Amino acid sequence: MSHMHKTDLYQLRRNALAKHIFNKTGGGIAVIATAPELARNRDSDFPYRHDSDFFYLTGFEEPGATLVMKVGASGKSHQVESHLFCRPKDLEREIWDGIRLGPDAAPEVLGIEFAHSNHELDQKLGELLADQDAIYVRLAESAEEDRRIRHWMKQVRGQTRSGINPPSEFHDVEVLIHEMRLFKDAHEIDIMRRAAAISARAHIRAMHACKPGMREYQLEAELLHEFRNSGAQSVAYNSIVAGGANSCILHYRAGSTELRSGELCLIDAGCELDGYASDITRAFPVNGKFTGPQRALYNITYAAQEAAIAATKPGNTFMQPHDAALKVLTQGLLDEKLINLSEVGSLENAIETGAYRRFYMHRTSHWLGMDVHDVGSYREPITTPAEEKSWRILKSGMVITIEPGLYVRPADDVNEAFWNIGIRIEDDAVINDAGCELISRGVPVKADEIEALMKNR
Ligand code: GLY
Ligand code: MN
Ligand code: MN
Repeated sequence: MSHMHKTDLYQLRRNALAKHIFNKTGGGIAVIATAPELARNRDSDFPYRHDSDFFYLTGFEEPGATLVMKVGASGKSHQVESHLFCRPKDLEREIWDGIRLGPDAAPEVLGIEFAHSNHELDQKLGELLADQDAIYVRLAESAEEDRRIRHWMKQVRGQTRSGINPPSEFHDVEVLIHEMRLFKDAHEIDIMRRAAAISARAHIRAMHACKPGMREYQLEAELLHEFRNSGAQSVAYNSIVAGGANSCILHYRAGSTELRSGELCLIDAGCELDGYASDITRAFPVNGKFTGPQRALYNITYAAQEAAIAATKPGNTFMQPHDAALKVLTQGLLDEKLINLSEVGSLENAIETGAYRRFYMHRTSHWLGMDVHDVGSYREPITTPAEEKSWRILKSGMVITIEPGLYVRPADDVNEAFWNIGIRIEDDAVINDAGCELISRGVPVKADEIEALMKNR
């Protein structure tokens, strides 16, 4: 374990989840397993990454672990008892694969009430589920998860003649955890600030290194160097380094295309630090100087981002930053005659009919947290069945990306001067009481600032 455990934090989160369970069904058993290990080929695994929900509640990074929470009543309030099932100590395996915490040390280190070997999971769950009405699991998650749940249920059902009843209510535990994860606490925001700062430095490093004739993968190497050298454990997602026409492919990876003078390079890359993602995009000229058409589209995208940032504040809905960006982008497309005003009639109509969509085909924001496209409902929880569910109201503690873009692929009816220009500007915003804090602005964003930075290479 690379960092100290803030065990209180995880206890608080388990306690909060227990309260939600108590309020819903008066108690029950929650089972949350971490992620499986995945083989890459023969004896080589993919780098291990814990399950985010499991980590959120335990701070435990080892594979082969399951958290079981027993929630009951204590007077009018809830009480909770947590059990961690983890890999037992095993000298032979530890020589090959690394040290295991083990169930003896786990309660002290993790601040959890009970720990057992994961070999005992099936039997213990048979006992824990006896006479419980409600079980909280991940519903329809995987065949393996379903198989395990069936196995536990079978064990309890086998005891019915001794007067024991199996649970009869299944609930999705994720809904409750994901609502909690939507609101980041101070500990999480602190890590996210540091993750974004590292990623910003990586973007600067790539801009500094960029020269015509280099390959996309060489800039990816610069990004990875900064991530790992700064202590980030991983990328938060596969880095996009897209030269020229590739910048118009939304999910492009860093490939082997040569970066050419006169073209743009779009980089969408962010590190994962201590389990939290960052997500930054910049587009910059390979030779350090924007052409006229590149600068025109860049400035429109920048203005769209500014409009979206101004709309990112508590009380606004999740869609308001997007609508604000869309208006600026579409007006810009009209100004540059990429959308023909005589065909659409008006800005409103261009938005209404989706005339912008061939140049801007994604949303402006998504939640950001442990997962790059983080969890949490984009709609308000329903209050009355008749009510239409509104887009989520932004509140302090939520974290979103703000990432408008423009992508112009070659077409007969499109001015050739704009062909193959793909631009996205993406920053990470923590919503606070006043509005939002951009935590990724360690890397310049204005066209002039980018040119100034690249001039001093
Ligand atoms: N990097 C993924 C995204 O921007 O949504
Ligand atoms: Mn994003
Ligand atoms: Mn991104």
